[in-house]
Amino acid sequence: MLEKINAAAAYVQERISDKPQVGVILGSGLGNFGNRIANAVKIPYAEIPGFPVSTVEGHSGQLIFGDLGGKKVVAMQGRFHYYEGYEMNQVTLPVRVLKQLGVETLFVSNAAGGLNPSFNAGDMMIIHDHINFFPENALRGKNIDELGPRFPDMSEPYTNKLIVAAEKIATEESITLRKGVYVGSSGPTLETAAEYKMFRILGADATGMSTVPEVIVAVHMGMKVFGMSVITNVSEPADPDKGTTHDEVQDVAGTVEPQMTKIFTRLIEQL
Ligand code: HPA
Repeated sequence: MLEKINAAAAYVQERISDKPQVGVILGSGLGNFGNRIANAVKIPYAEIPGFPVSTVEGHSGQLIFGDLGGKKVVAMQGRFHYYEGYEMNQVTLPVRVLKQLGVETLFVSNAAGGLNPSFNAGDMMIIHDHINFFPENALRGKNIDELGPRFPDMSEPYTNKLIVAAEKIATEESITLRKGVYVGSSGPTLETAAEYKMFRILGADATGMSTVPEVIVAVHMGMKVFGMSVITNVSEPADPDKGTTHDEVQDVAGTVEPQMTKIFTRLIEQL
């Protein structure tokens, strides 16, 4: 694993002149954020040794290095999902490579289904905690002591200081932000009405098919994390016929992307 991380990082380092300090993972429909990065150097995943290739429509699959909010950043346009068939080590490899490249703070975004009855499609939710409902933990297996401890502390996976700062920015910008718990499960099926209800009972406010494995490995390596869900659809147990489509998810996320970008950019400025 270490060799794999080093090989990918070494390849990327050859292509960039400055170490990135901030990493941003762009969720479904949020890829346009990458176009806001100045002096961009783009490296397709397919070129990076050991990187899997993203298979989902709307995830183009490249790293974008450049400047944003006065910092050196790297965005992941496209991520690897467990439902695509990748092993957890593959899903999380890019985050480990980002850390190796110098990234200390990771911003994660995703499209998610709303479970909290007060949420509407188009809302943005700060993730303040998560529930790992994937069938395995991303750190299962022999611990890589060079990366982090066997039993990582998970009492504050999402850095509280960043949450407080984001809430302040949102108030200043008159952007309404929700805050809640994200439950990550494997997908690719969207939830049945009974599953939505179960997740709500478990204490989650939003549900999706990503983020949790990436955040687990980031926390393992001591990175600071800020997470945001775009609520692209809401569960309506009373009206289970109203389904959700992938197009709908992408459209709603695309509409909200400018606001998310504003919050991320201003947070990055303050780091
Ligand atoms: N469930 C799971 N993942 C999702 C959803 C959902 O309702 N919406 C967007 N991603």
